[in-house]
Amino acid sequence: MTNARPHITKAVVPAAGMGTRFLPATKATPKEMLPVVDKPAIQYVVEEAAAAGLSDVLMITGRNKRALEDHFDRNYELEEQLTRKGDEAKLERVRESSTLATMHYVRQGDPKGLGHAVLCAEQHVAGQPFAVLLGDDLIDPRDPLLSRMIEVQQALGGSVVALIEVDPEQIHLYGCAAVEPIGWQGSGEDGEVVRVTDLVEKPDTADAPSGYAVIGRYVLDPAVFEVLRETEPGRGGEIQLTDALRTLAARSADTGGAVHGVLFKGRRYDTGDRADYLRAIVRLACEREDLGPDFRAWLQEFASTELQA
Ligand code: G1P
Repeated sequence: MTNARPHITKAVVPAAGMGTRFLPATKATPKEMLPVVDKPAIQYVVEEAAAAGLSDVLMITGRNKRALEDHFDRNYELEEQLTRKGDEAKLERVRESSTLATMHYVRQGDPKGLGHAVLCAEQHVAGQPFAVLLGDDLIDPRDPLLSRMIEVQQALGGSVVALIEVDPEQIHLYGCAAVEPIGWQGSGEDGEVVRVTDLVEKPDTADAPSGYAVIGRYVLDPAVFEVLRETEPGRGGEIQLTDALRTLAARSADTGGAVHGVLFKGRRYDTGDRADYLRAIVRLACEREDLGPDFRAWLQEFASTELQA
């Protein structure tokens, strides 16, 4: 019965990673604060959670992550200065991030992997299903993936992952899911729904059960905590969320199991590695109403002159 399921109101955002791929930029600044055009990457993620109706956001942080808390807080000094100048536009942009959601923070302390980060949220989510959003993936707000995933969880129970199809030589960068069709459409919104029958974290191409890669959006049944506590370190010596989901996929729905996948075909920007981060900025800048027209013209000129072999 759809209505009997508890509503999903909480989002968990793991943000304790060191960001070593972006050194030296991340020596004293959290990688989540790196700007994508003029907003820190993490703000897009909190905006996405809020747009899906998740107004309670728990960030899993660690050492050197103070800037995250400051970013989602008020900055009275700056606001007062802008008020005095009468700069309404900037004032609104400064305030925006502090009005998106109710923010909570917990420190991971000992970074032992994504599964361990999610385990840090147990007390806060208090036995309810919840969403997890990884900051390296930005999902275009025009392609609302999270609300589709929430719809699936509310209708079918269990946990839900987001999947994209990738080239075989890319699969070692992701969790990989074996899937089967279930013929369920729900509201018929974009995003075919499949049943996940198995999961492997970052397999070699030859061992991958499919070309479906897990991207950084999850809606999880709280049964995941009890499984995570029992999950041994896996790939990279870390406690992997993928391994816990594999256990849940093998369980029946009445014991918190069943994992479904939403096949996402929309726009996703990866900010996790340097080249993809640059691509994300260029694409988003091109689409901006304020910056786009000039930037596109410059880019065209640049591509036709300086990039000619
Ligand atoms: C994590 C997960 C992986 C998933 C990926 C999506 O890996 O462990 O299963 O495919 O996020 O971005 P990471 O990229 O943090 O190494």
